[in-house]
Amino acid sequence: MNKTLGIIGGTGWLGRAIAEALLDSRFIGPDRLLISNRSGVSTFGPDVRLLADNQQLVELSDRVVLSIRPEQFRELKIDARGKLVISLMAGVPAVAISAATGADVVVRAMPNAAVEIRQSFTPWYSAGNLGDHDRKWMQRLFECVGSADEVPDEDCIDYLSALSGTGPAFPAMLQMALTNQAVAAGIPLAIAQRAAQGVVVGGGQMLANRDPRQVIESLMAYRGVTAAALQSMADQNIESIVGRAVQAGAEIARKGM
Ligand SMILES: NC(=O)c1ccc[n+]([C@@H]2O[C@H](COP(=O)([O-])OP(=O)(O)OC[C@H]3O[C@@H](n4cnc5c(N)ncnc54)[C@H](OP(=O)(O)O)[C@@H]3O)[C@@H](O)[C@H]2O)c1
Repeated sequence: MNKTLGIIGGTGWLGRAIAEALLDSRFIGPDRLLISNRSGVSTFGPDVRLLADNQQLVELSDRVVLSIRPEQFRELKIDARGKLVISLMAGVPAVAISAATGADVVVRAMPNAAVEIRQSFTPWYSAGNLGDHDRKWMQRLFECVGSADEVPDEDCIDYLSALSGTGPAFPAMLQMALTNQAVAAGIPLAIAQRAAQGVVVGGGQMLANRDPRQVIESLMAYRGVTAAALQSMADQNIESIVGRAVQAGAEIARKGM
């Protein structure tokens, strides 16, 4: 692409992971990428320009990514009228971003920690009119760090912030519970840890190309050890536990941060 992309906060954890993926996949050349931060410390080679002045970055960029924390956004002063602004911030509504930056078109996107291994799922939503060309560009941008979907309304972003935005949180919780319960049942710690990791990591990889409903149905049909364990979770309404957990996170995102 020959547009210029500026990332405010592009040396932070998320901004840097995305910027590196965009460069590695040649989605953008280093001469078209601009980064700004306050410290002046760059994590990129000399070809990627680092700016201390956010307004200068906005003026030199066709599209501007906000990859700063919500509390840092409150201090940010930029005039981005006429620019496409893409926010990666959790819990900051598009209307607040438009009001603070003057941008007519604001895209909100919610990648997750798996950007690090380029396996994030990134839902994105455009508040304002995004042309076909920009829509395809947006989708391709987030595909550089995994998979992506445009979602039909902004509330999907707040809900999904608490679902896919949590990255490894839910599997980590499951892995920890399996480990602790195995230890409580008398399995030595190191073995419990390996067993639980095998379930979450090995099992997770198997699900990459299997339908989870079919997996569960076929295991239930077998009526063996696994079926008894799954039935116990179903009897305790695991779906409702998961549903309440995601809603609790989504409420925080909806309330704003
Ligand atoms: N972590 C996740 O899993 C995740 C997932 C989805 C979305 N997000 C969102 O991503 C955003 C960034 O999170 P993060 O974890 O990457 O934070 P982070 O590592 O703290 O990065 C923030 C970056 O912004 C820079 N910065 C702060 N204020 C600035 C300003 N006024 N002008 C220019 N640069 C500024 C900081 O650098 P200096 O200190 O040098 O200025 C830093 O490099 C958050 O809004 C979060 O909600 C995070």
